[in-house]
Amino acid sequence: MKKIGIIFALKEELDETKKLFKDTIVHSIYELKIYECCNENVTCFLVESGMGKVNAARSTQILIDSMKVDYVLNVGVAGSISRDINKCDIVVADKLVQHDFDLRPLGYDKGEIHNVGKYVNCDKELIELAKIIKIETNVKIGVIASGDIFVTDEKMGAKINKNFGALCVEMEGASVAQVCHLCNIPFLVIRAISDSPYEKNNNITFEEFLKISSDMVSRFIAQLIERIK
Ligand code: ADE
Repeated sequence: MKKIGIIFALKEELDETKKLFKDTIVHSIYELKIYECCNENVTCFLVESGMGKVNAARSTQILIDSMKVDYVLNVGVAGSISRDINKCDIVVADKLVQHDFDLRPLGYDKGEIHNVGKYVNCDKELIELAKIIKIETNVKIGVIASGDIFVTDEKMGAKINKNFGALCVEMEGASVAQVCHLCNIPFLVIRAISDSPYEKNNNITFEEFLKISSDMVSRFIAQLIERIK
């Protein structure tokens, strides 16, 4: 049976997916709680990493080393940085970039990591599985940009969109991608949009949409893990 590690930044995001399973075993590693959940096809290991790239990278490495996962999914919410991406839409990453990584003084491109490259590609087979999922919202496939900044400034978002062709921003995906790439583990990042500077009342939308978007993305995950054999 395949083992899938699923990394969430926030408890609200994890809780929606944990509801999909009847029984869970809890593993404690350092301060992390890893929930082992099974269905007929797969065993999933759910972890709340905390926010930001370092937290997510650390949880990814722990899932790979301690739980010996075959796949990693990074799931949660993201902010839109494109007029074409609205709240509650789902974005499946085809590749990820760290928009705050900057070695330009050393001759690299903005976002380029010396030992990894600029973009890290998600697993092609997982993307194909994601493409056939049926859900009552728009699903877009494209670049997701990660950085240790909660982006609310429309200009900053527009710049990230222009520089990297990214559809949305979050704070973990590209670091999960980097660790998986270095460890040769297939991975996919899936995000539901919780906030957008292009829609009204943006300051309250994150709170409001966190639960709705987490529910949306957990239903997407439910279908995805059924298809992983
Ligand atoms: N996660 C959800 N919304 C976000 C935003 N606007 N910036 C960074 N991470 C996010």
